Amino acid sequence: MTFAGQLRSMVAADAAAVAELSAEAGAARWDAPAFVRELALPQSRLKVVEADGRIVAFAVWWHVVDEVHLLNIVVHPAGRRAGLGRLLMNALVADAQAVRARALCLEVRAGNAPALALYLQYGFEIVGRRRRYYADGEDAVLMERVLHA
Ligand SMILES: CC(C)(COP(=O)(O)OP(=O)(O)OC[C@H]1O[C@@H](n2cnc3c(N)ncnc32)[C@H](O)[C@@H]1OP(=O)(O)O)[C@@H](O)C(=O)NCCC(=O)NCCS
Repeated sequence: MTFAGQLRSMVAADAAAVAELSAEAGAARWDAPAFVRELALPQSRLKVVEADGRIVAFAVWWHVVDEVHLLNIVVHPAGRRAGLGRLLMNALVADAQAVRARALCLEVRAGNAPALALYLQYGFEIVGRRRRYYADGEDAVLMERVLHA
């Protein structure tokens, strides 16, 4: 199943809606001011997906030297499994390719099966593990997709 959503860059006026979505999804708890600050960072890229005038998904990534690091990707619980994660991942990969990044990288909770499956589908490989990386003691799995040597 796919879901019709419009991908665009995030703007400051989206911050409250994106923070709300982030909280609803139980994802990294950035509040609206944190998203506004993030928008001002030169290395940061924030994308949202809008459907019927509402923000239903977002992703944040950073350009760091020759890597593109995915910080977060969140789809509204009611909109999952409809291709929105893929829509954002396609934008991430296209952006990384456009700047000729060497690699894409990310950390994910070891128990986050949906996210792990999504990243494996996008050619990421597990390259490491950080024990008890998260505040609740869960491990982080480090993943990378090399785009060019
Ligand atoms: C991970 C997440 C972004 C996926 O978004 P989504 O829109 O549901 O993903 P898509 O519909 O585009 O699915 C793409 C692929 O991801 C994988 N996937 C997504 N959800 C899955 C699930 N519940 N179980 C197993 N695989 C899953 C599948 O490989 C799927 O491809 P398929 O549908 O052809 O099998 C979403 O589950 C989410 O927002 N989770 C909460 C936030 C989070 O944990 N983010 C990751 C932080 S590192």
